[in-house]
Amino acid sequence: MNISWSECLCFILLLLQLTTVSTLKRFEVLGPPDPVDAVVGEDVVLPCYLKPNISAVDLSIQWLQLESSDRLVHLYQDHEDRNKNQVPSYRGRTSLFPEQLKNGNVSLKLRNAQVSDNGEYKCLVESQEWYEDYSIHVYIKAVGTHPMISNEGYKEGGISLVCESKGWFPQPQVVWMDSEGHSLPAGHTERHTDSMDLFTVRRRVIVQETETNRFTCRVQQQQINEMKDTITNIPGELHIFRINSFSITTFCIPYESDEWKCWKIASDIYKKEKLGTIYKETLFDI
Ligand SMILES: *[C@@H]1O[C@H](CO)[C@@H](O)[C@H](O)[C@H]1NC(C)=O
Ligand SMILES: *[C@@H]1O[C@H](CO)[C@@H](O)[C@H](O)[C@H]1NC(C)=O
Repeated sequence: MNISWSECLCFILLLLQLTTVSTLKRFEVLGPPDPVDAVVGEDVVLPCYLKPNISAVDLSIQWLQLESSDRLVHLYQDHEDRNKNQVPSYRGRTSLFPEQLKNGNVSLKLRNAQVSDNGEYKCLVESQEWYEDYSIHVYIKAVGTHPMISNEGYKEGGISLVCESKGWFPQPQVVWMDSEGHSLPAGHTERHTDSMDLFTVRRRVIVQETETNRFTCRVQQQQINEMKDTITNIPGELHIFRINSFSITTFCIPYESDEWKCWKIASDIYKKEKLGTIYKETLFDI
C-alpha cells in the first residue's frame, strides 16, 4: 500500500470531523435515580441535565406532566420561556435556571407545591437533529397537625373519645391504642378534604376504664414515613362514677379540674339524658 502523507492527514481530519459532528448531535438527558419528594407549600427543584454537559441555550426544553395525556408544565424554545399553553395550575410557579443552561443544566424550579403536582414528569430536550427525555416521579406530601382528642363523655357503654387531625397528604391512617400499644377496636375513619385537597381525618373509640386510663391516638402515613401521636389521660380513679337510685343510673366523668359531665340512664330502655356540667362539690347531691 502506498498512502501519501497528505492522504493520511486528510483521512484523519475527516474522522475527527465525523466524531465532532456526532458528539454535537447526540446527548443524553439525565435526572435523579430516585423519586423527588416535595412538601405542599414549599418550593422544589426537579433535576435534569445533559450528558455531555453541552450548552442547552439553543435547544428546546419541555417539561411535561404525564397524566392520561401529556400536560405542558414549562416550555423554553428559541431562547425564551413560552408558557402560553401551559396547564393553568402551573401558571407563575415554574422556571428554569437561566444561568445554568450553558452548563447543560435544564432543571425545573416549581414553587409553592400543590397536591395536584403529584405524579410523573418528563424532561424532554430537543435539538434540530436529536431529542431525548428523562422521567421523574414527584411525590407530594403534607404532614398534618398533631391529633386533637376530645372527650364526648358517656356513650354506648363507655367513654367516647374522638381523634381528629388536619392537613395530610396522602390520606393517613388513624389508630387508637391502649397504654401498652395494642390497637383498640374503633369506628370507621371519617375523612374529608379541604380547599387545598389536604385530608382531615376523624375516628371515634369507645373505651372502658383501665388501670392507667391512658389512650393514644396515632395518625400515620407510611408512604411518607410520618407519624403523630397524642396521648390522653382520663383523670381520676372515679373515671366512671355511678350512683344507683332505683332503676336509674347516673354516670359522671371528670371533665376539667373540678367540673364533671353527667348522664342519667334508664338501664332497661337504655335512654340517656344529659344532665350537663356540674361541679365536684355538688356531685354527691345527684
Ligand atoms: C461541563 O462541566 C465541567 C466540569 O463540571 C465544566 O468545567 C465545564 O465548563 C462544563 N461545560 C460546559 C459547556 O458548561
Ligand atoms: C442545576 O442548577 C441548580 C440551580 O443552580 C442546582 O441546584 C443544581 O445542583 C444544578 N444541577 C446540576 C446537575 O448541576
